[in-house]
Amino acid sequence: MTAPKIYVALSTFARQSPQPLELLKASGYSFAVNTSGARLSQERLVEQAHDFDGIVAGLETYDAKVLGALPRLKCISRCGVGIDNVDLSLARRKGIAVLITPDVVIQPVAELTIAMIFDLLRRLTAHTLLMRQKKWERHTGHLLSGKKIAVVGLGRIGRRVAEILKCLNVEVLGADICPNEDWARQQGLRILPLEEALAQADIVTLHVSATIENPFCLGAKQIAGMKKGSILINVSRGSLIDEPALVSALRLGHLAGAGLDVFEKEPYSGPLCGLDNVVLTPHVASLTQESRPAMEIEATQNILDFFMKDPKQREII
Ligand code: 8YV
Repeated sequence: MTAPKIYVALSTFARQSPQPLELLKASGYSFAVNTSGARLSQERLVEQAHDFDGIVAGLETYDAKVLGALPRLKCISRCGVGIDNVDLSLARRKGIAVLITPDVVIQPVAELTIAMIFDLLRRLTAHTLLMRQKKWERHTGHLLSGKKIAVVGLGRIGRRVAEILKCLNVEVLGADICPNEDWARQQGLRILPLEEALAQADIVTLHVSATIENPFCLGAKQIAGMKKGSILINVSRGSLIDEPALVSALRLGHLAGAGLDVFEKEPYSGPLCGLDNVVLTPHVASLTQESRPAMEIEATQNILDFFMKDPKQREII
């Protein structure tokens, strides 16, 4: 059997630390890295990764067209936790393993969520932009303390967000299709149906995983059902919100603000960029000096471990 070949599709691989690259070199496997500096299109991905057995993957798309055009592919090792960019059921049928780095992303994503909440409540970005124009305009903010916050999606990240918020003297409401009741009881969290949580909360933060099997989208009706003057945070996936409905709710002032790290189409340059009641970041929730190298090392180690195993012992998730 020939040694596996690994393609690294991440555009920023080993930028913060040489360790993931050293790990690959030490493996003795041959490998290539995406040096384009950008997320690969489907065509470029197929062109670049055609002869490879494993891919350390970012957010590029692995749909039927791509999976069908990568004949040697045995393993997609995501540097991250979301797998909405992979046609999972097809990958399963083709015997392609899909691996993730579930734990290291929790803290950075939870911290960005909290940062966005404080930014919107105290208008940090808005004030900074005014002061850049030498304008001394003082806008009254809001306290976080005493607010009701709905955490929608109580997976690993949602639970961490809820735990941090509990220390900040807020009432945390939870909504989830399959909530962990024991954990919620321990945390003193009220679990509510989604519509009720949306109607009651001053701030709503989404932590739902976007999958084809389990589609979730906050549409115009749900947004209209949110409390007037409330704030919406989304650091999960752009597909979780109907963007035109959000823009209209922000323009009309039904929502006081939104904090968004993810967008339906990325890179994003749409109408949200022109609103002053939003805080926008370019999909950087897990991107910290501390977490990014750890994610890359884990994704690299996962793929090396996969190929180290006897093919009969390999698990296809
Ligand atoms: C990305 C993310 O993986 O964990 C996820 O699913 O969205 C991010 O952490 C990362 O930005 C891609 O390199």
